[in-house]
Amino acid sequence: MGRIKLYFNVAKNFITGNTVKKQDIAKSYNEVSHGYDNEFIDVMHRYNVSMLSMLSIPNEARVLDLACGTGFNSKWIYERHPDALIHASDISSGMLKEADKKLCGKVKLTEASMLDFLKKHESGTVDVIVCSWALKYEPPLKVLRECWRVLKNGGQIGIIVNTKATLPEIRKIYKYLLIDNSTEINKLMMELPNPKNEKQLNKWFRICGFDQIKTSHGCHSFSFDSTDDAARWVTSTGALAGFDVMLHLKDNGIKNQISLLLEKFRIKSITHDFVLGVGYKCL
Ligand SMILES: C[S@@+](CC[C@H](N)C(=O)[O-])C[C@H]1O[C@@H](n2cnc3c(N)ncnc32)[C@H](O)[C@@H]1O
Repeated sequence: MGRIKLYFNVAKNFITGNTVKKQDIAKSYNEVSHGYDNEFIDVMHRYNVSMLSMLSIPNEARVLDLACGTGFNSKWIYERHPDALIHASDISSGMLKEADKKLCGKVKLTEASMLDFLKKHESGTVDVIVCSWALKYEPPLKVLRECWRVLKNGGQIGIIVNTKATLPEIRKIYKYLLIDNSTEINKLMMELPNPKNEKQLNKWFRICGFDQIKTSHGCHSFSFDSTDDAARWVTSTGALAGFDVMLHLKDNGIKNQISLLLEKFRIKSITHDFVLGVGYKCL
C-alpha cells in the first residue's frame, strides 16, 4: 500500500512539475552554511587540494571559483598566489556570507548560478576555473562548454564531483523513508547528473574541447559511533541538498527514522565516491 501511495505521489508531483528547483537547493545550503566547514570541508578539503595542486596557476591569473561555497578553493589559491584576481560565485547567500568572513575582501563574490555567472564573462578572458562538489547542480556539459568558452587559450579547468555511486548507504534507506512518508513528499527531487565514473568525466572534458586531461577516482568513508550521529551528519552537511526538500529530513521524527533504518541495515559508515580532474584549453 505504501509503495502504491508513493508511486501515486511521485507521478502527481512529476506531472504538475512540482520538482526541486535551484532556489530550493540554495535554501538547503543556506541552512547548513554555518556548520559546513566543520562537518564537510574539514575532512573533504584534502581532495580539493589534490585537484588544486594539479593546476599550474600563472602570475596575475584571472580565476573563477564556481559554486564557491564557503570559499575554500579561493582561499587556497589567494594564499599561494596573492597576485591572482579571483572572482567566486555561489547560488546560496548563506554560503557566500561564510565565504566573505574567510576571504577578508581578497576575492570578489557574486550571488549567481554557475551558468548565469559564466554567461556574464567574455570569451577567452580567464586563466583558471575551478568547480568542486557542484557540477551536478546544472547540466554538466553546458557548464563545461561555457567554461571552455570563457577560458583563454592555454587556460585550465579543475573539477571534483561525486559519481553516481556516491552515498550508496543513503540510497539504500531513502526509498524506505519515502515509502513510510509518501504523504509528506513536498516536491520531487530528480536524479542528479553525476558522472558514472572517471571515464565519463574524462569523456565530458574531451567532448567540450579540453586537452591534456588528467583524472582520478576517489572514495572517502565517514564512520560514526552511532546511527544517531550518522543521521545527524547526513542531514547537516549539504550532502542531501534537494533530497531534504523532497522530505523534511531535518524534522526530528524523520531523523529518528533515518537512524532506525541505518540500524536495521547495520550501516555505520557513509561513503562519498567521487572523481576529480583537470584539463587545458588548447587551440
Ligand atoms: C557541496 S558545496 C561545495 C562548495 C565548495 N565548492 C567547496 O568545495 O566546499 C556545493 C555548493 O554549490 C552551490 N550550488 C548549488 N547549486 C548551484 C548552482 N546552480 N549554481 C551555483 N552554485 C550552486 C551550493 O550553494 C553550495 O555552496
